[in-house]
Amino acid sequence: MTDIDLIARYDGRVPRYTSYPTAPHFHAGIDGRDYARWLAAVAPAAELSLYLHVPFCDRLCLYCGCHTSVAHHERPKRHYARALASEIELLADTLGRRARVSQVHWGGGTPTALPDDCLSGLMDMLRARFEVTAEAEIAIEIDPAALQPEKLRALALMGVNRASLGVQDFDEDVQKAIGRMQSFEQTRDAAEGLRELGVTSLNLDLIYGLPHQTEESVARTARMALELAPDRAAVFGYAHVPWMKKHQNLIPEAALPVGVARLRQEAAIRAVLEQEGGMVPVGLDHYARPEDEMAKAAKAGALQRGFQGYTTDAAPVLIGLGASAIGALPQGYVQNQPSIPAYEDMLAQGRFPVTRGVALDHEDRLRRAVIERIMCDLAVDLPAMARAFGVGEAALLADAAPLAGFADDGLVEWDGARLSVTERGRPFVRNVAALFDAYLRKGAPALPRHARAV
Ligand SMILES: C[S@@+](CC[C@H](N)C(=O)[O-])C[C@H]1O[C@@H](n2cnc3c(N)ncnc32)[C@H](O)[C@@H]1O
Ligand code: SF4
Repeated sequence: MTDIDLIARYDGRVPRYTSYPTAPHFHAGIDGRDYARWLAAVAPAAELSLYLHVPFCDRLCLYCGCHTSVAHHERPKRHYARALASEIELLADTLGRRARVSQVHWGGGTPTALPDDCLSGLMDMLRARFEVTAEAEIAIEIDPAALQPEKLRALALMGVNRASLGVQDFDEDVQKAIGRMQSFEQTRDAAEGLRELGVTSLNLDLIYGLPHQTEESVARTARMALELAPDRAAVFGYAHVPWMKKHQNLIPEAALPVGVARLRQEAAIRAVLEQEGGMVPVGLDHYARPEDEMAKAAKAGALQRGFQGYTTDAAPVLIGLGASAIGALPQGYVQNQPSIPAYEDMLAQGRFPVTRGVALDHEDRLRRAVIERIMCDLAVDLPAMARAFGVGEAALLADAAPLAGFADDGLVEWDGARLSVTERGRPFVRNVAALFDAYLRKGAPALPRHARAV
């Protein structure tokens, strides 16, 4: 089976499985009252992981699929920071205790777009209302081109110890086509500044499948990225979804690599990171230095999948704060109102701004566990998983029937009980996971389309 045949067979549109059920299956039947009830039932000893979404940027990159917009004035940002503060207060009041927090992740958008005093003030508030543990990860996503040296002081005050820098591509022609100019020096200065600050773990984001990229050009970018000595790298396939993100219509579609070209670009980056950088692959799209916690967790089968991709954080409760943020509780998922004014209004009324979600039943939990292990370990023992959930294995094994074809194509090893995705199959791991997605099979014509598998 050639690469071209594989793409023809498997390049359908499949979810990224950052949750199960996936976000298109969240519905308006779950609201802030359900969320408050679910929070009240959280075990007192349970540790929390907090995600704060900041939907502002200094620039709008044409490829961007994130929930964000450009804001140059301080007023809307301060207004939003006040709403975030109200949400933190409401959360802490509802929990009724100073809960332990093992991770705080600032994402976006570009969280550093908030004024310095808002960032440090919100972090102080988190530390006052929660017991942020001494070893807690304080992570933040950073756009190197927008990181003024003065900002580092605010990050130091916040106690940031992990950072993720958006690189995407260092090639000038690619940068022009995606509306994101960013020199290597700017990126290097940001990396060095963060290291001096005490950031011990640095991640770089790269993208393949962008206009004008070639196997050679992405390999060059990967080599330049290695010069910054990242601890981790995330390598995403460009998700072209112009029906959802109108600004992507400005991407020159004729210059987009498609099908097998994307697969080979991914392989070219992987070869550089692994063979020249000594990094090990983690799950679908991450790489880490072998001594990094993420590589160790992957090896030990302890990797988790969350809305930010892969994580080593094992907190059983993920709280999403901010417009559009998603939370994962033992009972199910909740998502906040995506519109900033509506989000702020609901908090001004003292209500949780949750507008969608889904409650999990026993079958959802079983399938979620199967899909998470496939996405994280690239392997799962189906009868063992069914036993762990106290159910028969017949339904999972029936879903697994197409694995025989995957095995013939060299993508999995399958003995009728345990499946294991091969290195060749790694880019197609989402297709394997999708076999166990009961919602996908039921189909839902009104749901948004997903981006391509590879
Ligand atoms: C919130 S941004 C990172 C922080 C910062 N705003 C920046 O751009 O540097 C998250 C990451 O998502 C990835 N990303 C955004 N839009 C994407 C798309 N359409 N397809 C694939 N990856 C995308 C990029 O790699 C980006 O660095
Ligand atoms: S890639 Fe980052 S900086 Fe660019 S628009 Fe998206 S969130 Fe903002």
